[in-house]
Amino acid sequence: MSTPRSMLRAATLTVLALTAVACSETKVDGGESCAPSSRNDEIRLGLAPACEGCHLTGNKPFFASLTAFENGLVYDERYVKRGDPENSPLIQLLKGTAAGSYPQMPPGQPYDELVANGHVTLTTEQVEAWIRELPPPPERLETPDPEAFTVRRLSAEEMVVSLMEQLGLTLEDFVSTSDPNWRSRPYVVNGGKFFLWPGDWAPGISGEYVSDSRSVERFDGLGGGNSLVYRKRDVSFGPSAAQTLVQMSQAWCARAVDKKSNPAVLRYVTLADTSASSPDAVQKNLRSLYLRMLGQPPSDAEAKELYEQVYVPLEARSTRLAWIGVCAALIRHPLWITY
Ligand code: HEC
Repeated sequence: MSTPRSMLRAATLTVLALTAVACSETKVDGGESCAPSSRNDEIRLGLAPACEGCHLTGNKPFFASLTAFENGLVYDERYVKRGDPENSPLIQLLKGTAAGSYPQMPPGQPYDELVANGHVTLTTEQVEAWIRELPPPPERLETPDPEAFTVRRLSAEEMVVSLMEQLGLTLEDFVSTSDPNWRSRPYVVNGGKFFLWPGDWAPGISGEYVSDSRSVERFDGLGGGNSLVYRKRDVSFGPSAAQTLVQMSQAWCARAVDKKSNPAVLRYVTLADTSASSPDAVQKNLRSLYLRMLGQPPSDAEAKELYEQVYVPLEARSTRLAWIGVCAALIRHPLWITY
């Protein structure tokens, strides 16, 4: 998150997701950007309508890009045995005869049926012929591809840890620390602070790490995993994660603004400074907060937008609300959420 490049990558995130889908739908019209770039790409686009619904993101994002398809599926011996379609689990999956826990892909629907009803045009025989003649892996699989699409969302753990750090908050701001031995016991959560904590983190293996189960539920909402209950983290950024992050950003920013002698949010201003009394200090603080939260300075247009659309309207109610609002808006910025 430290260079302007990450911004570009954040933008590509959206664009790529859109083209990936659009391409498989419009592949036949030969539109320039969607024309398959190789034989492997042809197969990828041919299979996509049957597969990408579940394999664009998640654990097995084979259809996210050609690189993902080649790295994850085509040149993985577990799925494709070059020159030997009969023994390639990919073909067995299409035919519903694979040995693993999922005999059929797509699950529950014979691939040939999808061909028969016109949902896909690439036949199983064509996939077999392709495997028979499959060329060796392209060079670039061996070396890192500088163009590769590398953006991902921050994990829930990363969000919790980096947000505490950025906002100058510590555990003591959320949980009761009156017991001298508090770090060795389940955290007793102080109410109303929107504490949010992984269910499988210390202190200790007590089975009950925090006194308020909502802290853990919110962490789940943010997409966090929990090894104790075998729950995988959610690598997408869905509505529940977005909603949790909105609430968390507001509550935690408020905590940071209200915390005594905490320069994280109020570095160049106090709550007594207003845009009328200290316009320069307000601008300076806004820019410095942007840099602190997003790792790069704002463009003039972005600084202006943040000031006019977030800071000014809220300042009419109070400077406290204005800074909480600016802080929370930055946390919901795509640059903050992605890495
Ligand atoms: C309705 C959702 C869905 C669709 C559509 C789908 N898959 Fe899957 N696929 C899954 C799930 C669920 C798994 C197993 C869970 C996991 O490992 O992520 C899986 C696993 C796989 C695996 C790994 C199997 C293993 O045993 O390791 C391959 C390969 C695969 N899918 C290929 C395909 C292909 C090719 C298509 C299209 C013809 C396809 N899938 C369509 C849901 C789907």
